[in-house]
Amino acid sequence: MSDEPLVLGIETSCDETGIGLVRGHTLIADALASSVDEHARFGGVVPEVASRAHLDAMIPTIQRAIATAGITLNDVDAIAVTAGPGLAGALLVGVAAAKALALSLGKPIYGVNHLAAHVAVDQLQHGPLPEPTMALLVSGGHSSLLLVPDVTGDVRPLGATIDDAAGEAFDKVARVLGLPFPGGPHIDRVAKDGQIVIEFPRGLTTQRDMVEHRFDFSFSGLKTAVARWVEAREAAGEPVPVADVAASFQEAVTDVLVRKAILACKENGVDTLVIGGGVAANSRLRSMAESRCEAVGIAVRVPRPGLCTDNGAMVAALGAEMVARGRAPGQLDFPADSSMPITTVSA
Ligand code: KG4
Ligand code: ZN
Repeated sequence: MSDEPLVLGIETSCDETGIGLVRGHTLIADALASSVDEHARFGGVVPEVASRAHLDAMIPTIQRAIATAGITLNDVDAIAVTAGPGLAGALLVGVAAAKALALSLGKPIYGVNHLAAHVAVDQLQHGPLPEPTMALLVSGGHSSLLLVPDVTGDVRPLGATIDDAAGEAFDKVARVLGLPFPGGPHIDRVAKDGQIVIEFPRGLTTQRDMVEHRFDFSFSGLKTAVARWVEAREAAGEPVPVADVAASFQEAVTDVLVRKAILACKENGVDTLVIGGGVAANSRLRSMAESRCEAVGIAVRVPRPGLCTDNGAMVAALGAEMVARGRAPGQLDFPADSSMPITTVSA
């Protein structure tokens, strides 16, 4: 067995309790418990329900991860945990569990940024990240373009959404179309049977926007445009072509994401684009990014869908990189920070 340190990662920022075990760039185990079904009838994640579910799932999920890896907790060399951003109560459960483990095992603890972890996870699949890398981070809560000279300590935001996150837009449009929550995977699925026939708006892409909001995104106008289009159909008593609306909406989102990501790569002289976060699981985003990047000589790296949505492996991956680079661990009193900025990679 390799003598690289074994890192246990804990993720509880939203509705997934994730426990990952990583050694170097190798994924050893990744156990997940999700409370998504408990939130579905509310059409969104209910923070208190999520916190309670994390509490119930924490110990069984840790046990599942160590059983899969065939190790005991004493074999773990360091603990990493999502310190933020995310739901305050949900984060607290993970941070408290991580501190208890670190204290009882006498191991160092790393409180890490969830967004940086979404980027670092790609190393488990595709090896070391080139430095710098460009990262397009698209999740339920965030849509950002990040220049990443060093994922363990130097992450520079170039732009972000000024209203809804991409995943949020997927979820809201899915609701308009009568699809279940969370809507992203359902839109992805039904869009496969649809045609891109409706020209929906591309937010923040006018000439003026490209001066003032060059690398920012906006999906709220698109979401409203889809809702109005569907309402007009319904008012006219005509059937709503759900698959075509889904495909056309998905195209509008991915077009802007990929266009701005490629521009950011070109203008910063970066030749590798990593896409992370739940929306990176989207099949159209993946295929569009691959074909357009290939055409301009940019390498695109997207982790497999299970590593794109929230998981413990991503936290362990970032923790393992911090250990490998000799970054100082956190003190035991670091807080859970629901609005941790992306420029703060570790607490
Ligand atoms: O990263 P993530 O698991 O949680 C956050 O940190 O927010 O992202 C969740 C988001 C949800 O909005 C979900 O609808 C979206 O990712 N998502 C997708 C797909 N799979 C998940 N969006 C589009 N296509 C998908 N295949
Ligand atoms: Zn996430």
